[in-house]
Amino acid sequence: MNSFVIVQDIFRLTCYISCMSNQFDKPAHAADDWTIDQRWSDYTADEHKVWDTLYERLMKVLPGRAAPEFLNGLTALKLDRGGIPNFEEMSDELEALTGWRVVAVPGLVPDDVFFDHLANCRFPAGNFIRKPDQLDYIQEPDVFHDVFGHVPMLTDPVFANYMKAYGEGGLRSLRHASLKNLAALYWYTVEFGLIQTDQGLRIYGAGIVSSPAESVFSLEDESPNRIGFELERLMRTDYRIDDFQQSYFVIDSYDQLFRSTVDTDFAPLYAQMHGRFDHKPEDVLPSDTLLHQGTQAYANRGGRFAA
Ligand code: PHE
Ligand code: FE
Repeated sequence: MNSFVIVQDIFRLTCYISCMSNQFDKPAHAADDWTIDQRWSDYTADEHKVWDTLYERLMKVLPGRAAPEFLNGLTALKLDRGGIPNFEEMSDELEALTGWRVVAVPGLVPDDVFFDHLANCRFPAGNFIRKPDQLDYIQEPDVFHDVFGHVPMLTDPVFANYMKAYGEGGLRSLRHASLKNLAALYWYTVEFGLIQTDQGLRIYGAGIVSSPAESVFSLEDESPNRIGFELERLMRTDYRIDDFQQSYFVIDSYDQLFRSTVDTDFAPLYAQMHGRFDHKPEDVLPSDTLLHQGTQAYANRGGRFAA
């Protein structure tokens, strides 16, 4: 078991969306919208050091791999200056750029609360940070995943609008009992999305950019499929929550992502899909625009960071 932890050069497992439909008890100190005070001055030197260690690891792999909007977002929000960011200060910078703020929450929050925050341009971020012995693996998204992974992309106006529209769409989807298909959209874009640029493929998904190993795997390994983004295809596709993805979906632009999702009425899609997945994570379909047909060698060796 120990070797798992050692080779898990990665944070993943759960993100808000993979726990959708779970209900939790609201801690007594949280407000009605589940927000809490970040208590930035309570972070210890060791906790700031955990952030810095994770940051340094990622910066060894992300230049030339992460999307320019992500890397620019890091500097625009001064996330490169060291230590766990103060949400209030960071939010003032972010709000000036795209109108978004980051609010602290105790951990996972219920679906309706999560969607409502996004619909109002508030990104809910866990305020706790993993322990030094959990650098590679934790079960719940912490401040590093939530802030380092998600917040830089919110400096891009089009991507930020997509996140807001997603929150509004989420609130609507609660009436259709079709969260699974909407969650797959989040998974394959916000968490594990790739984008085609003039310089080549780049990462914009938060689940990838917060993992050094998956940052390399998603772009360079022969194992996973890389398939052109197609909205319905992706909403019908099951996904792995506890291992590297078997397929990544590639957008041409954030505008494509925004337009194709905002201009489509999801109600008829939900009715057809019934909260079911028609495709397995590794499937390749005749209708796919294939950028790379994966060998699935990694998954066939048993995955979970197979040697
Ligand atoms: N257009 C979607 C609907 O009709 C809403 C949505 C927009 C969902 C953007 C996700 C992203 O429900
Ligand atoms: Fe996440």
